[in-house]
Amino acid sequence: MTTAPPWFKTAVFYEVPVYAFADGNGDGIGDFAGLVEKLDYVAALGIDCLWLLPFFESPLCDGGYDVSDFTSVLASYGTIDDVTVLIEAAHKRGIRVIADLVLNHTSDQHPWFQEARRPGSPIRDWYVWSDTTEKYRGVRVIFVDTHDSNWTWDEVAGAYYWHRFFWHQPDLNYDNPDVGEAMRDVVRFWLDIGFDGLRLDAVPYLYEREGTSCESLPETHQWLKSLRSMVDSEYDDRILLAEANQWPHEVVDYFGDDDECHMAFHFPVMPRIYIALATGEAAPIVTALETTPEIPQGAQWGVFLRNHDELSLEMVDAEERALMNATYAPEPTMRKNIGIGRRLAPLLDGDRRKLELINFILLSLPGSPVLYYGDEIGMGDNYELRDRDGVRTPMQWSDEASAGFSTADPAALYLPLVSAPGYTSKEVNVVSQERDTESMLHWTRAWLERRRRHPVMGLGGFVPVATTDPAVLAFLRTGADEEVLVLANVSDHEVTFDVDISGYRSPITFAPYEYHWMWADQ
Ligand code: BGC
Repeated sequence: MTTAPPWFKTAVFYEVPVYAFADGNGDGIGDFAGLVEKLDYVAALGIDCLWLLPFFESPLCDGGYDVSDFTSVLASYGTIDDVTVLIEAAHKRGIRVIADLVLNHTSDQHPWFQEARRPGSPIRDWYVWSDTTEKYRGVRVIFVDTHDSNWTWDEVAGAYYWHRFFWHQPDLNYDNPDVGEAMRDVVRFWLDIGFDGLRLDAVPYLYEREGTSCESLPETHQWLKSLRSMVDSEYDDRILLAEANQWPHEVVDYFGDDDECHMAFHFPVMPRIYIALATGEAAPIVTALETTPEIPQGAQWGVFLRNHDELSLEMVDAEERALMNATYAPEPTMRKNIGIGRRLAPLLDGDRRKLELINFILLSLPGSPVLYYGDEIGMGDNYELRDRDGVRTPMQWSDEASAGFSTADPAALYLPLVSAPGYTSKEVNVVSQERDTESMLHWTRAWLERRRRHPVMGLGGFVPVATTDPAVLAFLRTGADEEVLVLANVSDHEVTFDVDISGYRSPITFAPYEYHWMWADQ
Protein backbone atom coordinates (compact mmCIF):
# COMPACT_ATOMS: atom_id res chain seq x y z
CA MET A 1 0.00 0.00 0.00
CA THR A 2 1.39 3.42 -0.88
CA THR A 3 0.66 6.28 1.45
CA ALA A 4 -0.34 9.68 0.07
CA PRO A 5 2.48 12.24 0.13
CA PRO A 6 2.22 14.89 2.83
CA TRP A 7 0.00 17.78 1.75
CA PHE A 8 2.67 20.47 1.88
CA LYS A 9 4.77 18.77 -0.78
CA THR A 10 2.35 19.56 -3.57
CA ALA A 11 0.92 22.74 -2.04
CA VAL A 12 1.07 26.26 -3.40
CA PHE A 13 1.33 28.83 -0.61
CA TYR A 14 0.04 32.40 -0.66
CA GLU A 15 1.55 34.95 1.70
CA VAL A 16 -0.90 37.50 3.09
CA PRO A 17 -0.45 40.33 5.55
CA VAL A 18 -3.93 40.53 7.10
CA TYR A 19 -3.74 44.33 7.20
CA ALA A 20 -3.04 44.56 3.46
CA PHE A 21 -5.62 42.23 1.92
CA ALA A 22 -9.16 43.46 2.56
CA ASP A 23 -10.79 45.77 5.06
CA GLY A 24 -14.11 44.37 6.32
CA ASN A 25 -15.06 47.16 8.73
CA GLY A 26 -14.10 50.26 6.79
CA ASP A 27 -11.43 51.60 9.15
CA GLY A 28 -8.75 51.62 6.47
CA ILE A 29 -6.88 48.57 7.82
CA GLY A 30 -7.27 45.05 6.48
CA ASP A 31 -8.78 42.54 8.88
CA PHE A 32 -9.93 38.93 9.32
CA ALA A 33 -13.50 39.75 8.29
CA GLY A 34 -12.20 41.18 5.01
CA LEU A 35 -9.96 38.18 4.42
CA VAL A 36 -12.86 35.78 4.93
CA GLU A 37 -14.84 37.63 2.24
CA LYS A 38 -11.97 37.11 -0.19
CA LEU A 39 -11.49 33.39 0.37
CA ASP A 40 -13.37 32.50 -2.81
CA TYR A 41 -10.84 34.56 -4.72
CA VAL A 42 -7.98 32.69 -3.02
CA ALA A 43 -9.63 29.35 -3.76
CA ALA A 44 -10.25 30.26 -7.40
CA LEU A 45 -6.61 31.26 -7.75
CA GLY A 46 -5.67 27.69 -6.84
CA ILE A 47 -4.02 28.28 -3.48
CA ASP A 48 -3.58 25.35 -1.08
CA CYS A 49 -2.30 27.16 1.97
CA LEU A 50 -2.44 30.71 3.28
CA TRP A 51 0.51 32.03 5.26
CA LEU A 52 -0.64 34.87 7.50
CA LEU A 53 1.93 37.41 8.62
CA PRO A 54 1.94 38.24 12.36
CA PHE A 55 -1.48 39.45 13.47
CA PHE A 56 -0.82 39.63 17.20
CA GLU A 57 -0.90 42.61 19.51
CA SER A 58 2.00 44.81 18.59
CA PRO A 59 3.14 48.43 18.56
CA LEU A 60 3.75 47.80 14.83
CA CYS A 61 7.30 49.11 14.72
CA ASP A 62 8.31 46.10 12.59
CA GLY A 63 5.15 45.25 10.66
CA GLY A 64 3.89 43.14 13.58
CA TYR A 65 7.10 41.11 13.99
CA ASP A 66 7.41 43.08 17.24
CA VAL A 67 4.88 41.10 19.27
CA SER A 68 3.61 42.41 22.60
CA ASP A 69 1.20 39.51 23.30
CA PHE A 70 1.62 36.17 21.53
CA THR A 71 -1.85 34.84 22.32
CA SER A 72 -3.89 37.82 21.20
CA VAL A 73 -5.14 39.38 17.97
CA LEU A 74 -4.43 43.03 17.24
CA ALA A 75 -7.79 44.75 17.79
CA SER A 76 -7.86 46.43 14.37
CA TYR A 77 -7.58 43.00 12.70
CA GLY A 78 -10.37 41.34 14.72
CA THR A 79 -10.67 38.83 17.51
CA ILE A 80 -9.65 35.24 18.21
CA ASP A 81 -13.18 34.24 17.17
CA ASP A 82 -12.59 35.91 13.81
CA VAL A 83 -9.43 33.82 13.41
CA THR A 84 -11.46 30.68 14.10
CA VAL A 85 -14.06 31.74 11.55
CA LEU A 86 -11.32 32.30 8.97
CA ILE A 87 -9.71 28.91 9.57
CA GLU A 88 -13.06 27.11 9.34
CA ALA A 89 -14.06 28.99 6.19
CA ALA A 90 -10.68 28.26 4.62
CA HIS A 91 -10.82 24.59 5.53
CA LYS A 92 -14.30 24.35 4.01
CA ARG A 93 -12.72 25.42 0.73
CA GLY A 94 -9.83 22.98 1.06
CA ILE A 95 -7.37 25.74 1.96
CA ARG A 96 -5.01 25.29 4.88
CA VAL A 97 -3.73 28.19 6.97
CA ILE A 98 -0.39 28.70 8.70
CA ALA A 99 0.58 31.53 11.01
CA ASP A 100 3.83 33.38 11.44
CA LEU A 101 5.42 32.86 14.83
CA VAL A 102 8.24 35.04 16.09
CA LEU A 103 10.22 32.76 18.40
CA ASN A 104 13.40 34.76 18.67
CA HIS A 105 12.28 38.04 20.18
CA THR A 106 9.43 40.12 21.54
CA SER A 107 8.55 43.77 21.35
CA ASP A 108 10.12 45.87 24.10
CA GLN A 109 6.48 46.58 25.00
CA HIS A 110 5.81 42.93 25.83
CA PRO A 111 4.94 42.56 29.54
CA TRP A 112 7.74 39.97 29.82
CA PHE A 113 10.32 42.59 28.86
CA GLN A 114 8.70 45.30 30.93
CA GLU A 115 8.91 42.98 33.93
CA ALA A 116 12.38 41.63 33.13
CA ARG A 117 14.00 45.05 32.96
CA ARG A 118 12.76 45.95 36.47
CA PRO A 119 15.63 45.82 38.97
CA GLY A 120 15.45 42.58 40.94
CA SER A 121 12.93 41.01 38.56
CA PRO A 122 12.64 37.23 38.97
CA ILE A 123 12.37 36.91 35.20
CA ARG A 124 15.35 39.12 34.36
CA ASP A 125 17.04 36.30 32.48
CA TRP A 126 14.14 35.75 30.09
CA TYR A 127 16.19 38.14 27.95
CA VAL A 128 19.90 38.38 27.19
CA TRP A 129 21.72 41.05 29.21
CA SER A 130 25.27 42.28 29.52
CA ASP A 131 27.21 44.98 31.34
CA THR A 132 29.30 45.61 28.25
CA THR A 133 28.94 45.45 24.49
CA GLU A 134 32.00 43.21 24.31
CA LYS A 135 30.03 40.00 24.53
CA TYR A 136 29.40 38.10 21.26
CA ARG A 137 31.65 40.49 19.38
CA GLY A 138 31.80 39.86 15.66
CA VAL A 139 28.21 38.67 15.37
CA ARG A 140 26.82 40.34 12.27
CA VAL A 141 24.19 43.06 12.38
CA ILE A 142 21.17 42.19 10.21
CA PHE A 143 19.42 45.54 9.86
CA VAL A 144 22.49 47.46 8.70
CA ASP A 145 20.31 50.37 7.50
CA THR A 146 19.42 51.31 11.05
CA HIS A 147 21.86 49.63 13.48
CA ASP A 148 25.54 49.17 14.04
CA SER A 149 25.31 47.01 17.16
CA ASN A 150 23.25 44.11 18.49
CA TRP A 151 23.30 45.67 21.99
CA THR A 152 21.14 48.51 23.31
CA TRP A 153 21.46 50.15 26.71
CA ASP A 154 18.38 49.96 28.92
CA GLU A 155 18.18 52.71 31.52
CA VAL A 156 15.67 50.88 33.70
CA ALA A 157 17.64 47.63 33.82
CA GLY A 158 21.00 49.36 33.97
CA ALA A 159 22.34 46.90 31.42
CA TYR A 160 22.62 46.26 27.70
CA TYR A 161 20.17 43.84 26.09
CA TRP A 162 20.81 41.71 23.02
CA HIS A 163 18.75 42.03 19.83
CA ARG A 164 19.42 40.57 16.38
CA PHE A 165 16.88 42.88 14.74
CA PHE A 166 15.56 46.32 15.71
CA TRP A 167 16.57 47.83 19.07
CA HIS A 168 12.93 47.55 20.17
CA GLN A 169 12.96 43.75 19.66
CA PRO A 170 14.91 42.21 22.57
CA ASP A 171 15.94 38.58 21.97
CA LEU A 172 14.45 35.99 24.28
CA ASN A 173 16.92 33.90 26.27
CA TYR A 174 16.36 30.25 25.39
CA ASP A 175 19.01 29.23 27.89
CA ASN A 176 16.25 29.69 30.41
CA PRO A 177 13.99 26.62 30.02
CA ASP A 178 10.98 28.69 31.13
CA VAL A 179 11.24 30.70 27.93
CA GLY A 180 11.17 27.58 25.79
CA GLU A 181 8.20 26.27 27.76
CA ALA A 182 6.31 29.56 27.39
CA MET A 183 6.89 29.54 23.62
CA ARG A 184 5.82 25.90 23.36
CA ASP A 185 2.57 26.96 25.02
CA VAL A 186 2.16 29.69 22.43
CA VAL A 187 2.55 27.05 19.71
CA ARG A 188 -0.08 24.88 21.42
CA PHE A 189 -2.41 27.85 21.71
CA TRP A 190 -2.51 28.50 17.94
CA LEU A 191 -2.47 24.85 16.89
CA ASP A 192 -5.42 24.24 19.24
CA ILE A 193 -7.27 27.02 17.47
CA GLY A 194 -6.79 25.12 14.25
CA PHE A 195 -3.78 26.45 12.36
CA ASP A 196 -2.20 23.88 10.07
CA GLY A 197 1.29 24.97 10.94
CA LEU A 198 3.64 27.79 11.71
CA ARG A 199 6.24 29.73 9.81
CA LEU A 200 9.07 30.06 12.30
CA ASP A 201 10.45 33.55 11.92
CA ALA A 202 14.18 34.26 12.14
CA VAL A 203 14.81 30.81 13.51
CA PRO A 204 18.64 30.57 13.46
CA TYR A 205 19.15 33.02 16.30
CA LEU A 206 17.53 31.38 19.33
CA TYR A 207 20.75 30.73 21.29
CA GLU A 208 23.97 32.69 21.79
CA ARG A 209 27.41 31.28 22.50
CA GLU A 210 30.68 33.21 22.86
CA GLY A 211 33.12 32.79 19.99
CA THR A 212 30.45 31.73 17.47
CA SER A 213 28.31 33.54 14.90
CA CYS A 214 25.37 32.91 17.25
CA GLU A 215 23.53 31.39 14.29
CA SER A 216 22.25 27.83 13.85
CA LEU A 217 23.91 26.61 17.03
CA PRO A 218 23.45 22.95 18.05
CA GLU A 219 21.33 24.16 20.98
CA THR A 220 18.94 25.89 18.54
CA HIS A 221 18.52 22.69 16.54
CA GLN A 222 17.99 20.73 19.73
CA TRP A 223 15.23 23.08 20.83
CA LEU A 224 13.52 22.89 17.43
CA LYS A 225 13.68 19.11 17.51
CA SER A 226 11.92 19.12 20.86
CA LEU A 227 9.27 21.45 19.41
CA ARG A 228 8.76 19.10 16.47
CA SER A 229 8.43 16.14 18.74
CA MET A 230 5.77 17.97 20.76
CA VAL A 231 3.87 18.97 17.61
CA ASP A 232 4.01 15.42 16.22
CA SER A 233 2.88 13.83 19.45
CA GLU A 234 0.06 16.27 20.21
CA TYR A 235 -1.26 17.12 16.72
CA ASP A 236 -1.91 15.58 13.31
CA ASP A 237 -0.64 16.85 10.02
CA ARG A 238 0.76 20.24 11.14
CA ILE A 239 3.91 21.78 9.68
CA LEU A 240 6.84 23.88 10.81
CA LEU A 241 8.35 26.10 8.11
CA ALA A 242 11.77 27.57 8.92
CA GLU A 243 12.90 31.00 7.83
CA ALA A 244 16.69 30.76 7.76
CA ASN A 245 18.38 33.05 5.26
CA GLN A 246 21.46 30.90 4.80
CA TRP A 247 23.17 28.53 2.38
CA PRO A 248 21.34 25.30 1.59
CA HIS A 249 24.07 23.14 3.16
CA GLU A 250 23.35 24.99 6.43
CA VAL A 251 19.59 25.16 5.99
CA VAL A 252 19.29 21.39 5.47
CA ASP A 253 20.18 21.02 9.14
CA TYR A 254 16.77 22.54 9.90
CA PHE A 255 15.13 19.45 8.40
CA GLY A 256 17.15 17.28 10.79
CA ASP A 257 16.53 13.65 10.08
CA ASP A 258 12.87 14.37 9.36
CA ASP A 259 12.68 15.32 13.03
CA GLU A 260 13.00 19.11 12.92
CA CYS A 261 11.20 21.44 10.47
CA HIS A 262 9.08 20.07 7.63
CA MET A 263 9.91 22.93 5.33
CA ALA A 264 12.49 25.68 4.96
CA PHE A 265 12.77 28.52 2.50
CA HIS A 266 15.40 28.24 -0.22
CA PHE A 267 16.92 31.73 -0.13
CA PRO A 268 19.97 31.49 -2.47
CA VAL A 269 18.16 30.28 -5.59
CA MET A 270 15.90 33.34 -5.55
CA PRO A 271 18.37 36.13 -6.48
CA ARG A 272 19.96 33.79 -9.01
CA ILE A 273 16.72 33.65 -10.97
CA TYR A 274 16.89 37.43 -11.29
CA ILE A 275 20.60 37.26 -12.16
CA ALA A 276 19.80 34.76 -14.92
CA LEU A 277 17.24 37.13 -16.40
CA ALA A 278 19.63 40.08 -16.11
CA THR A 279 22.52 38.29 -17.85
CA GLY A 280 20.55 36.08 -20.22
CA GLU A 281 22.40 33.03 -18.88
CA ALA A 282 20.73 30.15 -17.06
CA ALA A 283 23.80 28.78 -15.27
CA PRO A 284 23.35 30.55 -11.90
CA ILE A 285 19.98 28.86 -11.34
CA VAL A 286 21.28 25.42 -12.21
CA THR A 287 24.40 25.84 -10.08
CA ALA A 288 22.31 26.92 -7.08
CA LEU A 289 20.18 23.80 -7.40
CA GLU A 290 23.06 21.46 -8.14
CA THR A 291 24.84 22.60 -5.00
CA THR A 292 21.70 22.11 -2.90
CA PRO A 293 22.10 18.92 -0.86
CA GLU A 294 19.52 16.16 -0.85
CA ILE A 295 16.87 16.64 1.79
CA PRO A 296 15.12 13.98 3.90
CA GLN A 297 12.15 12.12 2.47
CA GLY A 298 9.59 14.06 4.51
CA ALA A 299 11.06 17.53 3.93
CA GLN A 300 10.35 20.20 1.36
CA TRP A 301 11.81 23.51 0.20
CA GLY A 302 9.68 26.63 0.05
CA VAL A 303 10.61 28.59 -3.08
CA PHE A 304 9.64 32.18 -3.72
CA LEU A 305 10.33 35.22 -5.88
CA ARG A 306 9.23 38.00 -3.54
CA ASN A 307 7.89 38.43 -0.05
CA HIS A 308 7.07 41.14 2.48
CA ASP A 309 10.77 41.92 3.07
CA GLU A 310 13.38 43.37 0.77
CA LEU A 311 14.58 41.07 -2.02
CA SER A 312 17.45 39.73 0.04
CA LEU A 313 20.95 39.97 -1.41
CA GLU A 314 22.65 38.31 1.54
CA MET A 315 23.29 35.13 -0.41
CA VAL A 316 25.20 36.68 -3.34
CA ASP A 317 28.79 37.95 -3.66
CA ALA A 318 29.81 41.59 -4.14
CA GLU A 319 29.90 41.36 -7.92
CA GLU A 320 26.47 39.75 -8.13
CA ARG A 321 25.09 42.32 -5.68
CA ALA A 322 26.43 45.14 -7.85
CA LEU A 323 24.79 43.58 -10.89
CA MET A 324 21.49 43.13 -9.06
CA ASN A 325 21.50 46.71 -7.81
CA ALA A 326 22.46 48.15 -11.19
CA THR A 327 19.75 46.17 -12.97
CA TYR A 328 16.93 46.16 -10.48
CA ALA A 329 17.53 49.04 -8.06
CA PRO A 330 19.19 51.85 -9.98
CA GLU A 331 17.92 54.47 -7.52
CA PRO A 332 19.34 54.40 -3.97
CA THR A 333 15.86 54.67 -2.40
CA MET A 334 15.00 51.29 -3.98
CA ARG A 335 17.65 49.63 -1.78
CA LYS A 336 16.68 48.48 1.69
CA ASN A 337 19.06 46.80 4.15
CA ILE A 338 21.09 44.31 2.09
CA GLY A 339 18.48 44.04 -0.61
CA ILE A 340 15.94 45.64 -2.90
CA GLY A 341 12.58 46.97 -1.72
CA ARG A 342 10.57 46.41 -4.87
CA ARG A 343 7.78 44.16 -6.07
CA LEU A 344 7.97 41.56 -8.79
CA ALA A 345 6.25 43.42 -11.63
CA PRO A 346 8.23 46.68 -11.42
CA LEU A 347 11.46 44.70 -10.94
CA LEU A 348 10.82 43.23 -14.37
CA ASP A 349 9.71 46.54 -15.92
CA GLY A 350 6.17 45.19 -16.09
CA ASP A 351 7.33 43.10 -19.06
CA ARG A 352 4.71 40.40 -19.39
CA ARG A 353 7.12 37.96 -21.08
CA LYS A 354 9.55 38.18 -18.16
CA LEU A 355 6.75 37.97 -15.59
CA GLU A 356 5.40 34.78 -17.12
CA LEU A 357 8.87 33.32 -17.45
CA ILE A 358 9.89 34.01 -13.86
CA ASN A 359 6.62 32.61 -12.50
CA PHE A 360 7.00 29.58 -14.77
CA ILE A 361 10.49 29.00 -13.32
CA LEU A 362 9.09 29.31 -9.79
CA LEU A 363 6.37 26.74 -10.50
CA SER A 364 8.92 24.36 -12.04
CA LEU A 365 11.61 24.40 -9.34
CA PRO A 366 11.91 21.61 -6.82
CA GLY A 367 9.93 22.76 -3.78
CA SER A 368 6.57 24.28 -2.95
CA PRO A 369 6.01 27.74 -4.45
CA VAL A 370 5.10 30.62 -2.15
CA LEU A 371 3.35 33.50 -3.95
CA TYR A 372 3.16 36.99 -2.51
CA TYR A 373 -0.28 38.63 -2.48
CA GLY A 374 -0.83 40.93 -5.42
CA ASP A 375 1.95 39.50 -7.57
CA GLU A 376 -0.66 37.42 -9.41
CA ILE A 377 -2.02 40.67 -10.85
CA GLY A 378 1.38 42.33 -11.24
CA MET A 379 0.92 44.90 -8.48
CA GLY A 380 3.44 47.72 -8.21
CA ASP A 381 5.28 49.23 -5.26
CA ASN A 382 6.08 52.54 -3.61
CA TYR A 383 9.74 52.43 -2.61
CA GLU A 384 9.59 55.97 -1.23
CA LEU A 385 7.75 54.62 1.80
CA ARG A 386 9.78 53.88 4.93
CA ASP A 387 11.47 50.56 5.65
CA ARG A 388 9.78 47.76 3.67
CA ASP A 389 6.32 49.37 3.56
CA GLY A 390 6.64 49.96 -0.18
CA VAL A 391 5.81 46.31 -0.88
CA ARG A 392 3.03 46.11 1.71
CA THR A 393 0.46 48.48 0.21
CA PRO A 394 -3.28 47.71 -0.03
CA MET A 395 -4.36 44.92 -2.35
CA GLN A 396 -5.86 46.34 -5.53
CA TRP A 397 -9.27 44.76 -6.01
CA SER A 398 -10.94 47.30 -8.28
CA ASP A 399 -10.66 50.76 -9.82
CA GLU A 400 -12.94 52.28 -7.16
CA ALA A 401 -11.62 54.79 -4.67
CA SER A 402 -9.43 52.93 -2.14
CA ALA A 403 -8.98 50.19 -4.74
CA GLY A 404 -11.97 48.21 -3.47
CA PHE A 405 -9.73 47.36 -0.51
CA SER A 406 -11.72 49.50 1.90
CA THR A 407 -14.75 51.76 2.06
CA ALA A 408 -12.60 54.28 3.95
CA ASP A 409 -11.29 57.35 2.23
CA PRO A 410 -7.98 56.73 0.38
CA ALA A 411 -6.27 59.17 2.76
CA ALA A 412 -7.39 57.04 5.73
CA LEU A 413 -5.77 53.78 4.56
CA TYR A 414 -2.97 52.25 6.67
CA LEU A 415 -0.59 52.98 3.77
CA PRO A 416 -1.17 54.99 0.61
CA LEU A 417 -2.21 53.18 -2.56
CA VAL A 418 0.43 52.72 -5.22
CA SER A 419 0.56 55.85 -7.36
CA ALA A 420 3.30 54.94 -9.86
CA PRO A 421 2.10 55.34 -13.46
CA GLY A 422 1.19 51.99 -14.97
CA TYR A 423 0.58 50.46 -11.53
CA THR A 424 -2.26 52.50 -10.00
CA SER A 425 -5.40 50.67 -8.94
CA LYS A 426 -7.14 52.15 -11.97
CA GLU A 427 -4.68 50.28 -14.16
CA VAL A 428 -3.90 47.13 -12.15
CA ASN A 429 -6.76 45.47 -10.28
CA VAL A 430 -8.52 42.14 -9.82
CA VAL A 431 -11.87 43.12 -11.36
CA SER A 432 -10.42 44.19 -14.69
CA GLN A 433 -8.14 41.15 -14.81
CA GLU A 434 -11.07 38.84 -14.08
CA ARG A 435 -12.73 40.20 -17.22
CA ASP A 436 -9.66 39.93 -19.39
CA THR A 437 -8.92 36.29 -20.13
CA GLU A 438 -5.43 37.27 -21.32
CA SER A 439 -4.54 38.86 -17.98
CA MET A 440 -1.74 37.87 -15.58
CA LEU A 441 -4.42 36.73 -13.14
CA HIS A 442 -5.82 34.26 -15.68
CA TRP A 443 -2.30 33.16 -16.58
CA THR A 444 -1.50 32.46 -12.92
CA ARG A 445 -4.72 30.53 -12.35
CA ALA A 446 -4.19 28.45 -15.47
CA TRP A 447 -0.62 27.55 -14.49
CA LEU A 448 -1.52 26.71 -10.91
CA GLU A 449 -4.21 24.43 -12.23
CA ARG A 450 -1.74 22.89 -14.64
CA ARG A 451 0.82 22.36 -11.88
CA ARG A 452 -1.81 20.63 -9.76
CA ARG A 453 -2.25 18.07 -12.55
CA HIS A 454 1.49 17.28 -12.39
CA PRO A 455 2.38 16.36 -8.82
CA VAL A 456 5.89 15.55 -10.04
CA MET A 457 6.51 19.31 -9.79
CA GLY A 458 6.15 19.08 -6.03
CA LEU A 459 7.37 15.57 -5.44
CA GLY A 460 9.87 14.81 -8.18
CA GLY A 461 13.64 14.88 -8.40
CA PHE A 462 15.75 17.48 -10.17
CA VAL A 463 18.19 16.50 -12.94
CA PRO A 464 20.00 19.23 -14.90
CA VAL A 465 20.11 18.75 -18.66
CA ALA A 466 22.90 20.12 -20.87
CA THR A 467 21.94 22.21 -23.90
CA THR A 468 23.89 23.86 -26.70
CA ASP A 469 22.89 27.39 -25.68
CA PRO A 470 23.77 29.05 -22.34
CA ALA A 471 20.52 31.05 -22.43
CA VAL A 472 18.49 27.89 -22.02
CA LEU A 473 17.46 26.67 -18.60
CA ALA A 474 16.89 22.93 -18.91
CA PHE A 475 16.18 20.35 -16.27
CA LEU A 476 14.08 17.27 -15.73
CA ARG A 477 11.59 16.80 -12.93
CA THR A 478 11.54 13.07 -12.38
CA GLY A 479 8.98 11.00 -10.56
CA ALA A 480 7.80 7.41 -10.47
CA ASP A 481 4.83 8.13 -12.73
CA GLU A 482 6.00 11.02 -14.81
CA GLU A 483 9.02 12.86 -16.15
CA VAL A 484 8.81 16.47 -17.36
CA LEU A 485 11.48 18.43 -19.21
CA VAL A 486 11.48 22.05 -18.09
CA LEU A 487 12.81 24.40 -20.77
CA ALA A 488 13.10 28.18 -20.66
CA ASN A 489 14.95 30.79 -22.67
CA VAL A 490 16.04 33.36 -20.09
CA SER A 491 17.40 35.74 -22.73
CA ASP A 492 15.93 38.51 -24.86
CA HIS A 493 16.94 36.84 -28.13
CA GLU A 494 15.71 33.87 -30.12
CA VAL A 495 17.66 30.65 -29.57
CA THR A 496 17.90 27.41 -31.50
CA PHE A 497 19.37 24.64 -29.42
CA ASP A 498 19.77 20.91 -28.84
CA VAL A 499 19.10 19.20 -25.53
CA ASP A 500 21.53 16.49 -24.48
CA ILE A 501 18.94 13.87 -23.67
CA SER A 502 17.35 11.19 -25.77
CA GLY A 503 13.66 10.88 -26.40
CA TYR A 504 12.97 14.62 -26.59
CA ARG A 505 12.55 16.77 -29.68
CA SER A 506 15.75 18.50 -30.82
CA PRO A 507 16.76 20.99 -32.18
CA ILE A 508 14.26 23.46 -30.83
CA THR A 509 13.79 27.15 -31.45
CA PHE A 510 12.54 29.39 -28.63
CA ALA A 511 11.48 33.01 -28.89
CA PRO A 512 12.86 35.47 -26.29
CA TYR A 513 11.68 34.41 -22.79
CA GLU A 514 9.76 31.41 -24.17
CA TYR A 515 9.15 28.54 -21.73
CA HIS A 516 7.63 25.05 -21.87
CA TRP A 517 7.07 21.87 -20.00
CA MET A 518 7.75 18.99 -22.38
CA TRP A 519 7.17 15.30 -22.32
CA ALA A 520 9.24 12.67 -24.14
CA ASP A 521 8.40 11.95 -27.78
CA GLN A 522 6.25 15.04 -28.09
C1 BGC B 1 10.81 38.89 8.96
C2 BGC B 1 11.00 40.38 8.91
C3 BGC B 1 11.20 40.89 10.32
C4 BGC B 1 12.32 40.13 11.04
C5 BGC B 1 12.39 40.42 12.49
C6 BGC B 1 12.12 38.44 9.55
O1 BGC B 1 12.93 37.59 9.06
O2 BGC B 1 10.56 38.31 7.71
O3 BGC B 1 9.91 41.00 8.29
O4 BGC B 1 11.52 42.24 10.27
O5 BGC B 1 12.15 38.75 10.90
O6 BGC B 1 11.32 39.84 13.16
